Amino acid sequence: MVAPLKVGIAGLGTVGAEVVRLIEQQGAALAARSGRGVRVVAVTARSKKKRGLDLRGVDWAESPQALAEDSNVDCFVELMGGADDPAFSAIETALKAGKSVVTANKALIAKHGLRLAKAAEQHGSALNYEAAVGAAIPVIKTLREGLSGTSVNRVYGILNGTCNYILTRMEHEGLSFEECLKDAQRLGYAEANPSFDVDGHDTAQKLAILASLAFGTKVAQTAVYVEGISSITPEDLRAAEELGYRVKLLGVAVRTAKGIEQRVHPTMVPKSSSIAQVMGVTNAVTIDGEGIPPITLVGPGAGGAATASAVVADIADVARGIRATPFGRPVDSLRATTKAPMERHEGGYYIRLLARDHAGTAATIATRLAEQKISLESIVQRHRNDGDVNGSAKKASPVPVILITYATSEDAVHRALKAVQRDRVISGRPQVIRIEKN
Ligand code: HSE
Repeated sequence: MVAPLKVGIAGLGTVGAEVVRLIEQQGAALAARSGRGVRVVAVTARSKKKRGLDLRGVDWAESPQALAEDSNVDCFVELMGGADDPAFSAIETALKAGKSVVTANKALIAKHGLRLAKAAEQHGSALNYEAAVGAAIPVIKTLREGLSGTSVNRVYGILNGTCNYILTRMEHEGLSFEECLKDAQRLGYAEANPSFDVDGHDTAQKLAILASLAFGTKVAQTAVYVEGISSITPEDLRAAEELGYRVKLLGVAVRTAKGIEQRVHPTMVPKSSSIAQVMGVTNAVTIDGEGIPPITLVGPGAGGAATASAVVADIADVARGIRATPFGRPVDSLRATTKAPMERHEGGYYIRLLARDHAGTAATIATRLAEQKISLESIVQRHRNDGDVNGSAKKASPVPVILITYATSEDAVHRALKAVQRDRVISGRPQVIRIEKN
């Protein structure tokens, strides 16, 4: 009979407390599934307040570092958060002591993942971090192990529930970004300082991890182009709907002739695509593998129960004796990552302009696009409601013009729009949203 795996948990917030509960509730089932019992033997947290947990017989370590050094602990579970210390040093200590480590910490894996993976390799330890991306969605395991038999060409997804909640409400209720953000904060989805979510940085950290697993490159958050959702208006969502698209904040990592492109930005996706059906706080990831149709995983990307479920699955793998290479291949064989310049990005574009309503405006816009060899898939001009049909009776108010281009380069779009602005046929800044085809 194998002795149970002895687990030490650092951090008893929402996720940590849920992991303790889950191991308690799932004890017998977990042992049956992994062939070995799992027991929480020690914990550490900032305060010893009661959390409704039965911690009788469980040691309290005085610090994460002390827990990482505890010789009674086989598996160190880090659920404190924070990209640096104390989490980083405690994890490194545990790995160097030959303990396996489970963490839900995306910021730490995005920043220090390679160094920690190296320590894990050198000491024969596991470093599991399934909960760091998409919480309960087993996307790390899918890329790291399940798709070893294929070459991934693109991985993209909705990796931030807060942004998807905001965009969904804006679309369904015609509300502004600001109104929906306030509601997200009231409901506890968005942080008090929501910039990390809505400006795309949370998605960028998760994407950097997925890109490394998908393409065998070094995790490099600085190589990700990032743009948030605050400029999106209900009008964009209405226009997208009419043209057969939805707007989602996507993280996209794709193999191109110019290298691996990693980008986070509001994206128009065809309404018929799997990713377009994902609403509210739900997350989803689509993986395009060589020679196989796309695989889409959908599920809860945040929350105590969803995150704890992935953490406990990682602990179960340690109990089974699985020691997967943290990034799917040895750290020394991961290739360097460079930031692909967005100016060279190629794809379709949605462009919304406020055009001055006089004769020749449409011709001018069309000319400037044609000069850059940009071909249009559709063009929609909204008519004014002031009854002024010939534009001569009073000063014309600007009218929205919406263009959808066929694939072109970002550089060409910028050059064409600069020329249109110089021609003074539009007012305000053009809105530009990239299109991702499935
Ligand atoms: N802030 C994240 C989200 C939660 O909104 O999805 C977990 O990463």
